[in-house]
Amino acid sequence: SEYNRPLIHYTPEYGWLNDPNGLFFDKKEKLWHIYFQYNPNGSVWGLPLYWGHATSKDLVNWKHHDLAISPEKDDEGIFSGSIVIDHINTSGFFDDSIDPDQRVVAIYTNHDSNEKQTQEIAYSLDAGYTFTKYKANPVIDLNLTQFRDPKVFWHKQSNQWIMIVVKSQDFKIQIYGSTNLKDWKFHSNFSSGFYGFQYECPGLFEVPIENSTKSKWVMVLAINPGSPIGGSFNQYFIGDFDGYNFAPDDTQSRIMDIGKDFYAFQNFSDVEEGAIGLAWASNWQYGNLVPTTERRSSMSLARRYTLKEININPETKILSLIQRPIIPDSITAVNSIVKTSFHPTINNILSLVAQDSTGLFDFKLRFKIKEKRFSNQEKITFDILVQSQVQDNEIDTVKVGFDAVISSYYFNRAIKNKNFENEFFTDKLSTYMEPLSYDDNNLPVFELYGIVDRNIIELYFNDGAVAMTNTFFMNEGRYPHSIKLVVNNEDSKFEFEQVSLRHLT
Ligand code: FRU
Repeated sequence: SEYNRPLIHYTPEYGWLNDPNGLFFDKKEKLWHIYFQYNPNGSVWGLPLYWGHATSKDLVNWKHHDLAISPEKDDEGIFSGSIVIDHINTSGFFDDSIDPDQRVVAIYTNHDSNEKQTQEIAYSLDAGYTFTKYKANPVIDLNLTQFRDPKVFWHKQSNQWIMIVVKSQDFKIQIYGSTNLKDWKFHSNFSSGFYGFQYECPGLFEVPIENSTKSKWVMVLAINPGSPIGGSFNQYFIGDFDGYNFAPDDTQSRIMDIGKDFYAFQNFSDVEEGAIGLAWASNWQYGNLVPTTERRSSMSLARRYTLKEININPETKILSLIQRPIIPDSITAVNSIVKTSFHPTINNILSLVAQDSTGLFDFKLRFKIKEKRFSNQEKITFDILVQSQVQDNEIDTVKVGFDAVISSYYFNRAIKNKNFENEFFTDKLSTYMEPLSYDDNNLPVFELYGIVDRNIIELYFNDGAVAMTNTFFMNEGRYPHSIKLVVNNEDSKFEFEQVSLRHLT
């Protein structure tokens, strides 16, 4: 019922949420577990900090649970970390009464009263609801204040547990190995890409290459602050991993999501197939200040990850991370406009206005541009307008646009008389895009998918080749009630092969 609480993006019932932690899939119960950085005592970040907990059958309907892991003292925090399933009981924490798929071990950073950060472990004998801390914690103590965010996984090829963790302000991702989750041996350091102020929340996961039986390793790294678009962001590197060193294919640093609200990404442990993950949908530049009361922040949608060669200009292809949101069958259309051919010269606005809006919409466009070159003076554009209900003749609008002349998309979240003024809450974000493909007449083809959930919009360009996630804040009481495709030029140079605008529930 709250106008600014997303419906299918996880939000805490009350309090403050940041990074996703301990993501795993319980294969026995077929249940997704997420934990998160949680302050249950207020809606800003603060100590004591806990691991909150939620579960879902479909990754969009979430159930809140009690606190999962708590600090020993009020001026301490259980900082970010991960969960593994210790199927063969390498740790010795489990006996035969615990199903191998539910041998849950959490690895996290304990942030103590003196701000010392050490890596600790805790195990669960009830499939992830309550945890017992290991008696001999910490498992790694370097006597440092900037050493955190362990992500652990089982590396089949070298038959050992691997921990990826950061020495934040030394700009080092460290790789450790272990056979029992308790004793850890240092293997190597990795540094690359943008440095910013500090490294946070690293990760390393195997991602399948589309249309092949091969995969590559993707190292992810969160930087805060220091994003080229401001504040916090996630980078990634593609390469090989032998259990000891990560060898990147090139020196490229790539941005995972070019919006402002996608941070501290983590992938799920123990998924049945492929790679799935999600992120905190906010930015440290303004996360504590956004105009929601009682609770702040949401997660992104869960996304499926693959790798694919994409064109970055007409001559050059590079292997890239592809992201597609997981929208389960439980999400259905209340009403929709679906067209398999749309020539905007005849009718240049398509408008879907929801009666009793849920605030949840999605849209998909596949279109061609009928000419290959334009002069810089031409204006060949269309917009998707996401608008609130008409109230006293005032409408709040956020806009996704495409400009064919410069082959670029933009998103604009500037809202008139807005109730959130913050200079770092960037209004406009944009990205250059190559065509997804060319048709038989060599005309460029593009695709766009977007999902709007009350106060967050996730955009996926060219079938997930580029993703852009942004929150927005309409005025008190308002949330999206309509979605419109508006083609701005009379003699349209666009030809739509697919248009779908849907009001969802
Ligand atoms: C990243 C981060 C982590 C840390 C946690 C504390 O957003 O700063 O490095 O573990 O948040 O809440």
